[in-house]
Amino acid sequence: MNTFNNIQKGILLIMAAGIGVAMLANPERAVAGIANSKHDLSSGSSATAQGKSSTISEICVFCHTPHGSDTSAAVPLWNKALPAGNTFTTYKALNTSTYDATQGVVGSVSLACLSCHDGAQAMDSMINAPGSGGYTAGGSTGTAALKMTGDPIPKIGKDLQNDHPISMPYAGGLASGNWTTATTTGFKDADFHPVVGKNINGNDVWWVDTAGGTAGSRDKTDMVLYTRAAGSPNVDGTTLAAATPFVECASCHDPHQGSNATFLRIPNTASAVCLACHNK
Ligand code: HEC
Ligand code: HEC
Ligand code: HEC
Ligand code: HEC
Repeated sequence: MNTFNNIQKGILLIMAAGIGVAMLANPERAVAGIANSKHDLSSGSSATAQGKSSTISEICVFCHTPHGSDTSAAVPLWNKALPAGNTFTTYKALNTSTYDATQGVVGSVSLACLSCHDGAQAMDSMINAPGSGGYTAGGSTGTAALKMTGDPIPKIGKDLQNDHPISMPYAGGLASGNWTTATTTGFKDADFHPVVGKNINGNDVWWVDTAGGTAGSRDKTDMVLYTRAAGSPNVDGTTLAAATPFVECASCHDPHQGSNATFLRIPNTASAVCLACHNK
């Protein structure tokens, strides 16, 4: 049924065109996933970001490669040489009296973030550059001028004492029980919300449910914890007795999530990110 006359249709068309122009004029509006976010370093990105390429038109290649990735830590298809975990000074070294966690050696997905954010290698350093014949074992050196700058943020650097702790067990670890069954009690630091633990595809995994997504299922909008296997090293030379859920950079951040400010998994309105884990 046609309810508009030609004049009304014309007005609607002009309005639609106006909305289109408004969206183009405001690039923030166009950021949904990673495209045009600060993690889109492709030549076609509309974002202003250090290290944005003038030649490479792919988005994922700055972090992932389909073949030949670095497997020295459990990170997905990583296309940059991962830094060694023991090159970082952790939050534990600050020695606040209230920190309960036995500090793990910096590892897992945090190393992936730090492969740019420690400022040690160039943004265009890659193991497998786009196209045929782009493979460099151990990663290419890239363009020296494209190392991340700006201490202490966005360049996090090698000293993590001034950053929220990472690579430590959720709730500071357990004083009693074990993670497979004890998801709500036995925390070394009692001021934490319960975790949800499940065996998915043969792996024990844990997360903290937030108001986003479905309760009891692991969603991108939950605070995702990263499993460390029994035997993983702590900075004091001890090792983990059992598989343990760890807090890492990507517990709070989703590097593909361009629509929340600073790539947070959920907006930090009323400190929702902090209060998802801390019961304060
Ligand atoms: C700035 C670095 C960066 C870029 C660019 C990037 N990723 Fe990722 N990606 C990561 C990190 C870090 C992880 C692991 C973090 C996590 O567990 O969510 C990850 C995890 C993933 C995963 C597995 C976890 C999940 O969320 O399903 C997939 C799939 C993925 N990325 C696809 C992509 C694709 C496709 C692109 C390009 C459109 C892309 N990524 C671009 C950093 C990046
Ligand atoms: C390929 C290099 C690369 C990797 C890997 C990478 N980042 Fe970034 N990140 C950048 C660049 C470049 C910027 C923009 C810096 C600037 O120009 O301000 C940035 C910015 C950010 C910002 C600030 C965004 C803003 O709106 O100001 C956050 C938060 C961030 N990254 C978190 C992470 C986390 C967490 C990871 C791992 C899950 C990660 N990044 C992995 C390159 C990277
Ligand atoms: C416990 C949660 C949490 C963890 C873990 C975490 N971040 Fe963040 N990060 C935040 C929050 C919240 C913000 C936003 C702060 C703000 O709005 O000023 C942020 C902001 C940032 C920024 C942008 C800072 C700015 O003001 O421009 C960068 C870059 C960043 N994080 C990188 C990282 C990296 C790399 C790691 C791991 C080494 C990491 N983050 C671990 C919560 C976290
Ligand atoms: C993914 C869960 C998680 C999120 C989200 C989170 N934290 Fe934490 N935070 C922890 C854990 C675990 C510790 C270590 C506690 C311990 O060992 O005593 C910690 C430690 C801290 C400490 C240091 C405590 C000490 O005794 O030295 C402060 C301060 C802190 N968090 C504040 C924040 C703030 C502010 C935010 C939001 C920007 C935040 N946290 C978000 C899990 C989280």
